[in-house]
Amino acid sequence: MSRTDTHEDLNAVIRQHSELLAAQLHSQRESLFPPDASKTMRKFTSGEAASLLGVNDSYLRKLHLDGKGPSPEISSGNRRHYSADDIHSLRVLLEKTARKPGDYLPGRRAGDHLQIIGVMNFKGGSGKTTSSAHLAQRLALKGYRVLAIDLDPQASMTALHGVQPEFDLMNGGTLYDAIRYEEPVPIAEVIRKTYIPNLDLIPGNLELMEFEHETPRALSRGNAGLFFFRVKEALAQVDERYDVVVIDCPPQLGFLTMSALSAATGVLVTIHPEMLDVMSMSQFLRMTADLMDVIADSGADMSHDWMRYLLTRYEPTDAPQNRIVAFLRTMYGDKVLNAPMLKSTAISDAGLTKQTLYEVERSAFTRTTYDRAIESLNAVNDEIAQLIQKTWGR
Ligand SMILES: Nc1ncnc2c1ncn2[C@@H]1O[C@H](COP(=O)(O)OP(=O)(O)OP(=O)(O)O)[C@@H](O)[C@H]1O
Ligand SMILES: [Mg+2]
Repeated sequence: MSRTDTHEDLNAVIRQHSELLAAQLHSQRESLFPPDASKTMRKFTSGEAASLLGVNDSYLRKLHLDGKGPSPEISSGNRRHYSADDIHSLRVLLEKTARKPGDYLPGRRAGDHLQIIGVMNFKGGSGKTTSSAHLAQRLALKGYRVLAIDLDPQASMTALHGVQPEFDLMNGGTLYDAIRYEEPVPIAEVIRKTYIPNLDLIPGNLELMEFEHETPRALSRGNAGLFFFRVKEALAQVDERYDVVVIDCPPQLGFLTMSALSAATGVLVTIHPEMLDVMSMSQFLRMTADLMDVIADSGADMSHDWMRYLLTRYEPTDAPQNRIVAFLRTMYGDKVLNAPMLKSTAISDAGLTKQTLYEVERSAFTRTTYDRAIESLNAVNDEIAQLIQKTWGR
């Protein structure tokens, strides 16, 4: 190492590298996604629309021929395509004549409480963001009113939804603004519409880290206003607007995660079934329980409607993984969701272009690859939807 590597130099180099990288990333994004090109949702085939609505395609065709509901786009071969907005309009139409209420609009009814789902595990890369984003989108497409919150300063879920954490949020706009100790803003100010009907987003970026730094200071001044209630109290302001809130947590057990855990009515712990991940999970569970005790000791209600483990990036042909899955299922019984999220190149490839698999056309992959992945995602998300329905007594 040369003598010139002084502290100042290192600082300057890091700053210069940061600026270079930011400029490069920005221009790359500009060419990939021009600033005026906001993300849009693809159209759905009539088969996909029918399946999302839970009706037959022939019934949808009849509605169309009878001039009822939105007109689909007709392509060559007389194929009908529906936008996500069309599907929502059809839901509203079908619900009017539904056999029982909630067949098409499955959200809350009078007396049902808001479902707040915290997706967590302090193991990095265990599939939290992938699970959160697909869950939020699937629920929205199924007619639930959903708010997705990115609580991770790394902001992967934000980027996945077409918001650039480093450029679009220069003047704040994350949940931090609504949960900070000094002059918090109303949470409604940080909620954005997305390109999917029924799905709103509170994006994240590095500013969320401020909450981790400020909380110990606020605690030492004795005015943290019970930090673990910050998320819950902020969400209470918009309770009536949503059926389900999905919170993508950061890979650590800090104040942000604890605050989400205190707000949560449902907890989803993602597990990649490999030995190293499972070993760190034991530690995660113990630390979580210890922290929850501390919070409960201060009088907070730490009861939840449900808690489940979700197996992620599961490879059914991998023998060591199967041993771990069998062992987890024996140990934790029905606390492990029946449906695992299969590992699929369709899911990781979609992620590379900042999309979920629900946003990608089936034709982008070989059919079997796409179908296998989407069936696995739907099975996971629909099992979670059943848990939600159950807590509402249905
Ligand atoms: N079912 C899957 N099949 C293939 N790849 C997957 C699957 N689930 C997640 N991945 C990939 O694994 C990586 C990690 O996933 P993800 O970002 O969801 O994890 P995470 O727990 O949110 O990570 P972090 O702790 O950094 O927030 C991503 O590159 C993602 O595309
Ligand atoms: Mg993540």
